[in-house]
Amino acid sequence: MGRRTLIAGNWKMNKATGEADALARELKAALADCNQADFAVAPTFLTISEVSARLKHTGIQVGGQDLHTHSSGAFTGAVSGEMLRAAGCSFVLCGHSERRSVFGDTDETVNAKVHAAFRSGLQPYLCIGETLEQRESGQVQSVIERQLTIGLAGLATDQVASLVIAYEPVWAIGTGRTATPETAQEVHAFIRGWLQDNFPGFVATQIRILYGGSVKPGNAKELLAQPDIDGALVGGASLKAESFKGIAQAV
Ligand code: PGA
Repeated sequence: MGRRTLIAGNWKMNKATGEADALARELKAALADCNQADFAVAPTFLTISEVSARLKHTGIQVGGQDLHTHSSGAFTGAVSGEMLRAAGCSFVLCGHSERRSVFGDTDETVNAKVHAAFRSGLQPYLCIGETLEQRESGQVQSVIERQLTIGLAGLATDQVASLVIAYEPVWAIGTGRTATPETAQEVHAFIRGWLQDNFPGFVATQIRILYGGSVKPGNAKELLAQPDIDGALVGGASLKAESFKGIAQAV
């Protein structure tokens, strides 16, 4: 069976209370007749409850943008996977490049977050990708390999098969500079090949690998047409129902 396309929106630090509900309402209407793909959105922590209430029974999944590795305790400012789950989340982003570069998440932290996501019943979306400097110095494969090896360490095979991987070249995030479909496909094929080499065959066949980095209605079709690109993780273009729908229509 083929992999079902997944289009996920990462709202980042956008859409306050009320605004998030309005966007969720628009998305609900815009995507009502789109059943060719799975959809998901990751609002801020503060608006997860209102967005998940609004999207209840729509099939559009709601997730967190990050989580703490512990369930509860003296971790000022943090939110746990258990809390996300209680608020209506079914998934959580782990290791988004902004968490890595702005907030200092290491591969080891990201791995602990992936484990914490499973512990709390959330589907992790493991985000990986190289910087421009790493690409220009020929390190794409070694960076990806390291992020996968450490990011997935200690997981059971069926856990690996059930998570989502998002390949987001850092130089393409929020820059308007998208990877060409060929460049993205090359890395996606490398990721799938790595999974093939390191896990039983069904893992690589089943796992969804999303591309992220300036995905828009105008470039989504070509990217999604690549054999190893199973969907998109969308930042900027997920903040308007119209452009998110435009990407959905490219499926
Ligand atoms: P972008 O963000 O679509 O605005 O480039 C993607 C992401 O960071 O997930």
